[in-house]
Amino acid sequence: MSTSATTAPATHPAEGAPVLQVRGLSCAIGGAVIVDDVTFDVAPGEFVAVIGPNGAGKTSLFNLLSGLLPATGGSVTLSGADITGASPSARARRGLGRTFQASSVFAGLSVRENVRLAAQARLGGSMRPWQLVRPGDAAQEIASRSLARVGLAGRGDDLAGALSHGDKRKLELAILLATDPAVVLLDEPMAGVSIEDVAGLTEVIASVHREEGKTVLMVEHHMDVLLGLADRVAVMHHGKLLALDTPERVTGDPAVQQAYLGEAL
Ligand SMILES: Nc1ncnc2c1ncn2[C@@H]1O[C@H](COP(=O)(O)OP(=O)(O)OP(=O)(O)O)[C@@H](O)[C@H]1O
Ligand SMILES: [Mg+2]
Repeated sequence: MSTSATTAPATHPAEGAPVLQVRGLSCAIGGAVIVDDVTFDVAPGEFVAVIGPNGAGKTSLFNLLSGLLPATGGSVTLSGADITGASPSARARRGLGRTFQASSVFAGLSVRENVRLAAQARLGGSMRPWQLVRPGDAAQEIASRSLARVGLAGRGDDLAGALSHGDKRKLELAILLATDPAVVLLDEPMAGVSIEDVAGLTEVIASVHREEGKTVLMVEHHMDVLLGLADRVAVMHHGKLLALDTPERVTGDPAVQQAYLGEAL
């Protein structure tokens, strides 16, 4: 096992307090331990890739971090505040945002409306889609900015359901950006995206990280994408954090190679 899993981040030494501190985080469901004693820190602005074989516990870890699954042990601290028992919405208000492995947009609403609703929720407004839109509305402006950010500025009036899979993934990112999270959890943002769309989506994610300084944790099976983006790579295996280190060291780690049982890393 790499030694940095429980110590300070390898690539961001002494840059202030960690934005995320995970200590002994565990979740057992019906006697099965699906996340097992996971401990790590993430520095502000860091990009951590989360990899591991199918069923390793990657999505469950994100569900624990975002509050969709209750922890049965351990703690999660976000920007110095213990959020272990906080609801998903309380975590979101504190700056933790996420996307889901399966696409989750309102197909029957326009692209802009999907983003405007998220912006409105952030601004403390209602989530009612039938609420009248005033020109110059702050939520509308955030929606326009967020759509431009992901390259969908020209698609605002289209129905979300009419977008290609790759563009739906971009829309999900725009929805997330509209809530202005400090830490974003991306669960397989490239899943189902055509090869031609992967490069564009990768560039959007890279620029969100680079230019807006957001802290990113991303699960992805596209290793080539991840290794180019990540400061560090966390490897999950059987619910445990098997390794957490630089991409170079993780891919050269025999224990990691063993976990993948010969799959190309
Ligand atoms: N709510 C739940 N109840 C019971 N078991 C669950 C639940 N959620 C996940 N699991 C189990 O926990 C294990 C980890 O699942 P998880 O979805 O976190 O894996 P993953 O690493 O995201 O896999 P994949 O790469 O296929 O998305 C699996 O064995 C899964 O069946
Ligand atoms: Mg998963």
